Amino acid sequence: MAPHPGFFVFEGLDGSGKSTLSRHVFDLLSRKGVPSICFAEPTKFETGLYLRKFLSGELELSGEEQIGAFLKDREVSLQRNILPALKEGKIVLLDRYMYSTAAYQSGPEFSAQEILERNRACGFPEPDLLFYLDLEPEQALVRLEGRKEAKERFESLGTLEKIRNAYESILPENTVRLDANLRPEELADLVEEKILLVRGKGR
Ligand code: TMP
Repeated sequence: MAPHPGFFVFEGLDGSGKSTLSRHVFDLLSRKGVPSICFAEPTKFETGLYLRKFLSGELELSGEEQIGAFLKDREVSLQRNILPALKEGKIVLLDRYMYSTAAYQSGPEFSAQEILERNRACGFPEPDLLFYLDLEPEQALVRLEGRKEAKERFESLGTLEKIRNAYESILPENTVRLDANLRPEELADLVEEKILLVRGKGR
């Protein structure tokens, strides 16, 4: 069987710099000739576009409906993006995964742990490593206010605090915690090193 190239997930609050970091890591790996690919959730498929409508406030969904919709999009993300890329021998860099649903959709109705268990019950695979970009909610809010795009659903201080606490309660053992205040280039070097170590072990 071909060696497992590695499945890596980036998590953190909105504004923590996940997308920039995954792009930098992709560039570093590409320059070394290591095949890799970046994906994000929600996806760009129909199931993900439906979620974007909810995120922009165009559509209202109950807590249960939100969880159901994110699980459905994750199934599509795995079947159409992640699993085929791993099969082709590419390292997969994924911006948000099941830990986001646990952190963002948890609340009085459902605990973060419960939501994570529901993801696992769907058979969604665990990543090799989870890179968690840690940022104070106050700083996240400042960064988000500097952005030009329309405000998304979860961009208030109270909500960001709840999300950060929920993340803290469910981050698995294979989490690599990163200080989101470091420069993107510095973070990318750290992440690339960890990824190549995991990949080396799989050979
Ligand atoms: P992003 O594209 O800036 O990461 O935004 C995606 C938004 O979707 C972000 O506010 C977090 C939210 N989200 C959830 O609420 N649950 C999930 O399971 C995922 C993947 C994202």
